[in-house]
Amino acid sequence: MEPKELKKLISQMTLDEKAGLCSGADFWSTKGIERLGIPSVTVSDGPHGLRKQKDAADHLGINESIKAVCFPAGCAVAASFSREMARLLGETLGEECQAEDVSVILGPAMNIKRSPLCGRNFEYYSEDPLVSSEMATAYINGVQSKYVGTSPKHFMANNQEYHRMTSSSIMDERTMREIYLASFESMVKKSKPWTIMNSYNRLNGTYMCENQEMLTDVLRNQWGFDGYVMTDWGAMNERVAALKAGCELEMPSSAGVTDAEIVSAVKSGELDEKVLDEAVFRILNITYRYLENRDGKAVLNLYSGHDIARKIEEESIVLLKNEENILPLSKKMKVAFMGKYASNPRYQGGGSSHINSFRVESAVEASDENEQIIYAQGYDDALDEINEQMQKEAIEAAKNAEVAVVFAGLPDSFESEGYDRKHLRMPKCQNRLIEEIAAVQPNVVVVLHNGAPIEMPWIDQVKGVLEVYLGGQAVGRATWNVLYGEVNPSGRLPETFPLRLQDTPCYLYYGGENDESEYREGVFVGYRYYTSKSIEVLFPFGYGLSYTTFTYSNLKFDKTSMKSSEKLKVTVDVTNTGERTGKEVVQLYVSAKESNVIRPVRELRAFEKVELCPQETKQVVFELDVRAFAYWDVRIHDWYAETGEYEIQLGKDASHMIVYGNIHLEAEGNIPKVYTLNSTLGEIMADSKGRAVFGKIMGSIMGGNTEETQMKSDSQGEGMMNQEMFTAMMEGMPLRQMLSFIPGIQKETILELIDALNG
Ligand code: BGC
Repeated sequence: MEPKELKKLISQMTLDEKAGLCSGADFWSTKGIERLGIPSVTVSDGPHGLRKQKDAADHLGINESIKAVCFPAGCAVAASFSREMARLLGETLGEECQAEDVSVILGPAMNIKRSPLCGRNFEYYSEDPLVSSEMATAYINGVQSKYVGTSPKHFMANNQEYHRMTSSSIMDERTMREIYLASFESMVKKSKPWTIMNSYNRLNGTYMCENQEMLTDVLRNQWGFDGYVMTDWGAMNERVAALKAGCELEMPSSAGVTDAEIVSAVKSGELDEKVLDEAVFRILNITYRYLENRDGKAVLNLYSGHDIARKIEEESIVLLKNEENILPLSKKMKVAFMGKYASNPRYQGGGSSHINSFRVESAVEASDENEQIIYAQGYDDALDEINEQMQKEAIEAAKNAEVAVVFAGLPDSFESEGYDRKHLRMPKCQNRLIEEIAAVQPNVVVVLHNGAPIEMPWIDQVKGVLEVYLGGQAVGRATWNVLYGEVNPSGRLPETFPLRLQDTPCYLYYGGENDESEYREGVFVGYRYYTSKSIEVLFPFGYGLSYTTFTYSNLKFDKTSMKSSEKLKVTVDVTNTGERTGKEVVQLYVSAKESNVIRPVRELRAFEKVELCPQETKQVVFELDVRAFAYWDVRIHDWYAETGEYEIQLGKDASHMIVYGNIHLEAEGNIPKVYTLNSTLGEIMADSKGRAVFGKIMGSIMGGNTEETQMKSDSQGEGMMNQEMFTAMMEGMPLRQMLSFIPGIQKETILELIDALNG
């Protein structure tokens, strides 16, 4: 509908009608206004399938929803590092929504994985904002290409399940911009989501539904968001304050209570009616975008959906270990599949994203045509107790096979929306089974079904490990295809697998106290922390093997020095040096060689996935702008990249760089500085104007190692302070101290020089 028409429609509404449109009609639909012909529309979860409820509604995945396709969860999709797969998922979901008359799908879920303990990490993408934002952008562009809206969630700083509805995430401005907002920023700019879902939690004390700085200043004014903000289910705090802050739609229904609050606030003059009109405009603008583009022909094609789910998962599986090339397996081998998840995979997480899958394909089912497979359940994941009988059967089966493939991971009760994990361990019964099998069978492969990192105490006793994450309903077929080499694995870890929980950056304060969770690790989240501190990890961010090998050569830049307004073109040749076609994820990191601020040792700034036939070489091209070199500067409240040398590093993962090159960056525009009597001599001398203004008097103290400044540390006269030591000490000395060091100098003289410098 044209803006003019929409405004006219709004002008015909009563105050009660307008207020009513700002909350849901029920659990899953918005209100309509019959007398004006405005229909109500449906929204549904999301993110990795359609959870459309026809009967009893809930937001915890308790009651049944329609039969649908369960695609790989966010943890898996991100591991594909493939924008193409994320987009395919989006397009498929968009079609499903059209078929089922769903106007907005509630996703993608894109909070940063601050700690592996977050119960909902399985739905989220990454510990890195670039990966998170890129995956979300592709997904959203896919859904919205079908004229269905998305609701990227949960905006923002919702990184724990513990007290998610009341806890305040306390963080500084730079951490917010570089990590937690950055996960959403380029997504908003590049994909223009129709809606955004604000999270339950508070941010630095203010509930997100009422956070004007985030919902209006940042989201709308700085990033150009032009859809509407809806609350997470039940995330409304103070309705009128939230409306003023930029939260348009409250979900689900408030049974009229908060609508009445809006009405009386307008009547009392507390709320300007124009704010309400604007909110209604924003909601209806999106509603009509959907209604006017309904696709009457769309059908929910469950079978093709299943194939797409398989295809996405095949790109998402990460090969973590492949000693002696135990994988791929040969169909001629006698193989034992063991572990419950071989026949009954764990393929999705619990909570609001839970899909009522129309079918689930297990690896045992996928291998039906292969007579050489033996299956033994091995453990019962409902109870974390060792079932001796099951274990015995599995050991016997393993002894009689050439290879044992143990399907393990985390049971539902170990990770879910609504609560956090307490540790990174797998159930005892599963760890024990792997160890017992490894004791009788030298060829063991472990296939992991989990939504977040786990400890692997048995890692040295097995030859192969495949991380299949929560891979959707076709996970069994996709796994089988990778195990037997029908598909060459190409997933990479979108998060670090630490050796121990104690090594994680926020170990000491995750969850917080008194409903406040302090993000004390700052920007050092995930690999930014491990690489900067050289902490050994189990598997680094970006890690993943292939059945083939790749080499990188010919790293080239189109210039050796760039200005901050310019772009840098980086090219590298990637060659498949093995014998199978495969896909490589080329990861580009930037590292500042020197900086005046505290920065991670390197940060991922670009990535591309390329497919190469054996012996084929392809040139991969990246284009970097100044943002790839920048940090958020709290003095200017903006991004800033310092003049200096930067290293462009292409890595196999965040810990292993293969080819490097240096680039000089010339910042255009300095950070304005105001000098005072407390500015240090070092700061002044680092500034060319400062050197010019203060040079002369400064020279007399910094340049001269005079008799007064010589010191003796012992009677022999050894340890005389040398020039270097002297300069280092003077570096931190404030200007006011010149009064004590330069005989006869007047305070006025120094103040005049400061004025000249500031002027
Ligand atoms: C979840 C959201 C979900 C909503 C509706 C909430 O509890 O946090 O992600 O979209 O419920 O089910």
